[in-house]
Amino acid sequence: MATSNPSDLVEADWSREDDAVDGAEPMHTESEALTPAPEDVKEIEAAVQSMDLGTKGKVKEVLPVEEPEPEEDNEENKKRHLNVVFIGHVDAGKSTTGGQILFLSGQVDDRTIQKYEKEAKDKSRESWYMAYIMDTNEEERVKGKTVEVGRAHFETENTRFTILDAPGHKSYVPNMISGASQADIGVLVISARKGEFETGYEKGGQTREHVLLAKTLGVAKLVVVINKMDDPTVIWDKSRYDEIESKMAPFLKTSGYNVKKDVHFLPISGLMGLNIKDRLDKKICSWWDGPCLFEVLDKIEVPLRDPKGPVRMPIIDKYKDMGTIVMGKIESGTIKKGDSLLVMPNKANVKVLSIYCDEKEVRQAGPAENVRVKLSGIEEEDVLSGFVLSSISNPVAAVSEFHAQLQILELLDNAIFTAGYNAVLHIHSVVEECEIVELIEEIDTKRRKDDDPKKKKPKRKPLFVKNGAVVVCCIQVNNLICIENFSDFPQLGRFTLRTEGKTVAVGKVVKLPNPGNSTF
Ligand code: GTP
Ligand code: MG
Repeated sequence: MATSNPSDLVEADWSREDDAVDGAEPMHTESEALTPAPEDVKEIEAAVQSMDLGTKGKVKEVLPVEEPEPEEDNEENKKRHLNVVFIGHVDAGKSTTGGQILFLSGQVDDRTIQKYEKEAKDKSRESWYMAYIMDTNEEERVKGKTVEVGRAHFETENTRFTILDAPGHKSYVPNMISGASQADIGVLVISARKGEFETGYEKGGQTREHVLLAKTLGVAKLVVVINKMDDPTVIWDKSRYDEIESKMAPFLKTSGYNVKKDVHFLPISGLMGLNIKDRLDKKICSWWDGPCLFEVLDKIEVPLRDPKGPVRMPIIDKYKDMGTIVMGKIESGTIKKGDSLLVMPNKANVKVLSIYCDEKEVRQAGPAENVRVKLSGIEEEDVLSGFVLSSISNPVAAVSEFHAQLQILELLDNAIFTAGYNAVLHIHSVVEECEIVELIEEIDTKRRKDDDPKKKKPKRKPLFVKNGAVVVCCIQVNNLICIENFSDFPQLGRFTLRTEGKTVAVGKVVKLPNPGNSTF
């Protein structure tokens, strides 16, 4: 893997994004679309590589908690746990809202806020002080942009939340993907400020890209917060709120969300801390009768995962600390201290020495928990992000070939999609170069359900498909990857294909080679 420094990327792109934020320039210029592929690979490799560097990876722990003694089953542990990713276009207010949540839940004191206010002022970024709670790196503070996903914790009445604050800038989509792939629900932050909603929503804006990625990566529910309602161009204007909701709803529907069941809209001001922990004061906004953000998050229902199912934990990071520690989210099953498990695809037998959940040591952890697991039986060098901790009796499939149903979004330069197409595959924590080796069947999305199936034309293998097509194809990778059929384990069976820094397709795994085989 090439040694590339993620900060090179940072420098390379700053000159452009400020323009885009102002709405003065489109997000994607022609020269960007023609950026040579090796740069993109470098970017993704940089992201992956830094994830290999242990705790200094692309996820930064915000306000880390002291490690107490192992927990007994107390009240706190009975609360459910949910991972929530903050997504949306650059500068929408994700870090500001995340920081405000930590402030309102009492984790940041007034003195720290005053210190941040001063620091932000010194950097001529007065209004950014709340974002500084989440943006802890100097580089992020100077530029006013999140680079690494910030991770923090807070609680509502019934739920313990892990916040994952994703970067909005298009250069860091690989980091956003790693954040979203760990999340159950998403808070989509949209700026209501004049011109900003429009820039994020237009073609090439990250509002669209993040929604599609979130859906594909398994973010089941979305809370759409229409932010900056306090801005002088908005001042809690109902018609602005309605305009944004009415434009977003059909788009969310075409992205696969059931707007009635899976999506909640609400107005907030992240900067002022309004409609976040407490409901809105009628004096500020007379027309909103709905709940505040904490209420919505606390009541949100997410699909249950099976605590008794086979163990599946994709590894997102690893490091050495008197043993080998792996980090990730448990997608299925329960991991207990003392368990014997397999690290796949290298079939290494390991034993669970200890489990940490939100910095606390626990005896066991179930689905949707973000954990660090100390293992014996494997060296840290022998684990890579993308490997999967798995039960011995029913291990995850390890393959170099699979069939997938793809939805083609937008091919670069209106290229055609055909056998031989190369892209970068992102599936749970795996990032691998892949090749489409065969198109098997194009799915006719216009055919109505009540059409007579007998009249259906015989299937012919297409030679190529274009933008917008839905196609079943065979995909190959060079290394073994651990994946599952979407119908069995959705979180391990949905993926995105990216080329030259853009998402070109989203897909799901529909067929794997026979058990024990890596190819068909
Ligand atoms: P990236 O991490 O770069 O994607 O941006 P972000 O979405 O985290 O945005 P951030 O929180 O850094 O805020 C960007 C700018 O918007 C800052 O100047 C904030 O002060 C401003 N901002 C955020 N929320 C609000 C709000 O509710 N009202 C107003 N008026 N400004 C806000
Ligand atoms: Mg941010």
